Amino acid sequence: MIKHYPLRRGLLHRATGTLRAVDGVDLELSPGETLGLVGESGSGKSTLARLLMGLEEPTSGTVHLRLQGGLVDFGKLRGRDLAGARRTVQMVFQNPASSMNPHMSIREIIAEPLRVQGLARGQELKSRVQDLLVQVGLLPRHGDLSPRALSGGQLQRVGIARALALKPRLLIADEPVSALDVSVQSQVLNLLMELRESMGLSCIFIAHNLHLVRCLSHRIAVLYLGRVVEVGPAQRVSSAPLHPYTQGLLDSIPVNHPAQRRRGPRALAGEIPDAAHPPSGCVFHPRCAHAQARCQQEAPTLREISQGHRAACHYAEAIKATASRGEAP
Ligand SMILES: Nc1ncnc2c1ncn2[C@@H]1O[C@H](COP(=O)(O)OP(=O)(O)OP(=O)(O)O)[C@@H](O)[C@H]1O
Ligand SMILES: [Mg+2]
Repeated sequence: MIKHYPLRRGLLHRATGTLRAVDGVDLELSPGETLGLVGESGSGKSTLARLLMGLEEPTSGTVHLRLQGGLVDFGKLRGRDLAGARRTVQMVFQNPASSMNPHMSIREIIAEPLRVQGLARGQELKSRVQDLLVQVGLLPRHGDLSPRALSGGQLQRVGIARALALKPRLLIADEPVSALDVSVQSQVLNLLMELRESMGLSCIFIAHNLHLVRCLSHRIAVLYLGRVVEVGPAQRVSSAPLHPYTQGLLDSIPVNHPAQRRRGPRALAGEIPDAAHPPSGCVFHPRCAHAQARCQQEAPTLREISQGHRAACHYAEAIKATASRGEAP
């Protein structure tokens, strides 16, 4: 899937180029599976989420959903079919408060999607909201309060309740705890994990922190400048990464993990390039310790290096070989 944004400059806002926010990303998600999406700021994580939600149209490519009736192409749906498909993908945002009307009660906020979509009203609506409040660990009395009266953690629970109201099949959580106090982060994450299990939800979990993502995901996809540079089983991507960027991401997080310490510091050097003017060849080459002349000219494709584990690096096999010998590459 590809999403380009026009770059506009000057008084006339003339388009002067394009920014490739998502550039050729191709991912699949099974029912009940959680995919972790990591990458530095500007790598295209939220853009990808908006495309999956149908909030933006891809420049090219499609989102396919497997619904009861079979595989459907999001882009080809219209009217009621589109509304129905959209309901199956819901999102939990980083800042729940910013998406909540401060003049509405918590009850009204959770009821809103159900009401707008005409899925429940009257007593049924009331009891659905009550159930949702309890499901996310809030008390029925919280429903009467204004968002201003709740803490950040409680508001995120409301955000989760609102996302679940429409009984989605896929939940996209875009940095759901990064705005919260550390002390409540794990409570909210635990809630998300419990709900995911009990409802059999597929999940896309977006975060900067690869270690956090590892704990919650079955598979991890690493994005860099709008491209997937590595994807594979969570355990393997985080303990035996095949792409130098993933290695750098891991090493830039301070941890006391012996496996990481053994490999030594390879924290990411340099700045993230301007997405409007990506480097030639492999877009990661200016920051890469392994870069050779080839990397400046030839963009690597995402290749399977070991079963289910793909990386877009010309030297992924060599990295794998050195890692399995226990040497620092
Ligand atoms: N509506 C838009 N118009 C133009 N450019 C955009 C738009 N939305 C995003 N971008 C650009 O697309 C790129 C990807 O942005 P995106 O918000 O998806 O990154 P992200 O990985 O979610 O970053 P963060 O970790 O900071 O949330 C960035 O270079 C951003 O500036
Ligand atoms: Mg984002």
